[in-house]
Amino acid sequence: MIVESPIESASRVATGADRWAWWDWWMDRKRRWVRDGDRQLDEGLFRAIAAGTGLPPIYQRSNFAFRSVRDGADRFLGLTKRGERPFARIYTRFGNPTTEYLERVLFQLEAHHVVEKALAENEPEATIGALIFGSGMGAISTLALSLVRSGDAVLAGSLYGCTDSLLRALSRFGVEAVFCDMGDLRSVRRALDAHPNVAAVFLESPENPTLRVADIEAISRLTEERGALLVVDNTFCSPYLQQPFRLGADFVVHSLTKYVNGHSTSIAGAVLGPFRFMKGDFFNWYKDLGATPSPFDSWLNSMAIQSLAIRQKEQCASAERIAFFLRHHPAVAGVFYPGFADFPQAELVRRQMRNGGAIVSFDLAGGQAAGERLMNYFARRDTPMELAVSLGSAISYIQHPASMTHAAVPEADRLARGITPGLIRLSVGLEGPDVLMDHLDRGLAPA
Ligand SMILES: Cc1ncc(COP(=O)(O)O)c(C=O)c1O
Repeated sequence: MIVESPIESASRVATGADRWAWWDWWMDRKRRWVRDGDRQLDEGLFRAIAAGTGLPPIYQRSNFAFRSVRDGADRFLGLTKRGERPFARIYTRFGNPTTEYLERVLFQLEAHHVVEKALAENEPEATIGALIFGSGMGAISTLALSLVRSGDAVLAGSLYGCTDSLLRALSRFGVEAVFCDMGDLRSVRRALDAHPNVAAVFLESPENPTLRVADIEAISRLTEERGALLVVDNTFCSPYLQQPFRLGADFVVHSLTKYVNGHSTSIAGAVLGPFRFMKGDFFNWYKDLGATPSPFDSWLNSMAIQSLAIRQKEQCASAERIAFFLRHHPAVAGVFYPGFADFPQAELVRRQMRNGGAIVSFDLAGGQAAGERLMNYFARRDTPMELAVSLGSAISYIQHPASMTHAAVPEADRLARGITPGLIRLSVGLEGPDVLMDHLDRGLAPA
């Protein structure tokens, strides 16, 4: 009997074409029309798609009556009916017409270029599928479970705290979470070389909360060569600032709770990825894990997405002014903002993002005590921001990553990623920069 060491067997774990029936099909589509260099969706077109052509009614129901036995049987076979997606109108955990509308709008915003090119080549089959979830974590956890098997590794950058702890928890199923600096290509290459069993790479760009940017295009080339899949969490950008499929991502995930909702009224998430997988294996995970969105929340998000571009553009313009203001403030030791011309990765930001975004992180010269003073100032009801986690809302939020969003990340990892005790994250809302700067100045005044 030959006894294999765990390392040897891990290095022979099947990836890419050995593993996924759709790999060659997807790589062909990626080469021909998904990867699209660094172009952005034209802003006018973005606004027109987002505005949509008729918000659907709220189908606030759990199930749907079939028109006949044949109709019910066809739906359970996943046959598409009259423009609905497969498995529509069976049971809301399988799909709901209000939610389907949001799936279509989000798909167009992330992948409009794919539709254009596929139509030009008379492609009859969809290339990318989209599914909406009851939360961003519902989307991420369903995707993570669907992509891994025992013996795999997942490679991750600095991720949102719950995504980080989810990937670490996969160890109980024999899946190792490996971490690297996604802002440094050599670090990514080294990690992939050292772990040939990496099945999927999870990254956020810009990273939360240090705003370091990952070169999505270059990383996608590395994952493709090694038969691994690249998952990009596009929550911080929304499709308005960045469309990762154009840069070679295989999957795009979102917490729609943030910029898409934009008003802090509900929790939701999304996964977009290769259509054959989304319609097949992944759909089973979607319906069996059951992180279903409520039709009402899908309707709220379908309405809110109509103004996404306008809101986010205004938020980004305010954030840029506030970032400069903080940079020159004597109480501030350092500001992280991808929109600065001298941001260490400014060239990469110009290539893959529409602008520098609406999140600003900063370190206070007075450390944690000064940070607590500032955040407690904004905890008061008579100030224009809220001391709260989350981001992307019309309301500005200030928070302390080390004790809040990233508290679940082990302290040593937090410090290695630059999440110091004095780091503060600001999500700029729609109050207007003058009011916010005035109050920041008051909150930063010496005790
Ligand atoms: C980058 C990122 N991804 C995912 C999530 C999780 O999303 P949700 O809270 O909608 O489950 C968050 C939440 O803060 C986030 O910031």
